[in-house]
Amino acid sequence: MPAHKIALIPGDGIGVDVTDATMQVLQAAAAKHGFALAPTRFDWSCETYLATGRMMPEDGIDQLRAFDAIFLGAVGWPATVPDSVSLHGLLLPIRKAFDQYANIRPHRLLPGVEGPLKASGFDILCIRENTEGEYSGAGGRVHQGRDNEVAVESAIFTRKGVERILRFGFEQARARRGHLTSVTKSNAQKYSMVFWDEVTTELAADYPDVTVSHMHIDAMAAKMVMAPQDLDVVVASNLFGDILTDLGAAIQGGLGFAASANICPDRSAPSMFEPVHGSAPDIAGRNIANPIAAIWSGAMMLEHLGEGVAASAILTAVQAVTARGIGIRPGSHGTDAITAAIMEELA
Ligand code: IPM
Ligand code: MN
Repeated sequence: MPAHKIALIPGDGIGVDVTDATMQVLQAAAAKHGFALAPTRFDWSCETYLATGRMMPEDGIDQLRAFDAIFLGAVGWPATVPDSVSLHGLLLPIRKAFDQYANIRPHRLLPGVEGPLKASGFDILCIRENTEGEYSGAGGRVHQGRDNEVAVESAIFTRKGVERILRFGFEQARARRGHLTSVTKSNAQKYSMVFWDEVTTELAADYPDVTVSHMHIDAMAAKMVMAPQDLDVVVASNLFGDILTDLGAAIQGGLGFAASANICPDRSAPSMFEPVHGSAPDIAGRNIANPIAAIWSGAMMLEHLGEGVAASAILTAVQAVTARGIGIRPGSHGTDAITAAIMEELA
């Protein structure tokens, strides 16, 4: 029986709650569909940082490299470790080290879930550049604390980076409804974003079957509220994609439903799957967190591992559960009850 080796990093807060829920569901799906999952748990978290001075060991990236995929719950416990330390010590280095340049986030309403909008028939796939751009980490500070203090943070856009994320978007659009919206701010940012627009136009020639729209990020924010049903695949830079996918989460009913995959498309390194929500310290360990975003991310992981039938079965089960009104409103059902209902549907 093929066994997929999974690195599990529950991380902090509700990351632990939803990782446990997800693994129950994934293991049940594996047993039913004739494959095995071999998880190895890494207790890398803010607690690890407090005990060792590091979020993960020095060779952490090397330890992860041998796995077929990584599942991550959430990172962050700002009461004891600043987010800028915890995220740059664990989540962000993994995305960069493994060249997980495509961050994919689906936004659509599950049956029974009422979002805040009148529109309900939208199905958006946001693709966020995940390794460079505004989050490249290039910059510095001088004269700290003095009145001549300077902070510089450079957004870096390379031809390789921009081309590959756009190609990824074109391919996804081709496999879906054939429409790509490229999001920039080229009316104000006249170097990087004009460059991005040019590359989009160049590549479009290779994808005559895909229609392309160029939109500015500000107009895009409005469009996602006013007419989300007109969107198919949306490609954006790291910062813009980060913001748009929280907006996407909001219109799909909240962060409890927002799944994501950090994909290394050439498969030279493991990809990482995680819900979009964070660690939510205020509700951690209280059986309150909605596990659906994490379980959906887990289904995306199985799909990536070639277990598409099991992945679809999990999504079908999740949809049956929300259609019954379970897990659709904050606080209506606990983590365990939602997970149990999904397991029942799966069986
Ligand atoms: C996300 C998160 C992270 C990001 C933070 C926690 C660094 O907001 O996955 O969207 O911006 O990438
Ligand atoms: Mn975010």
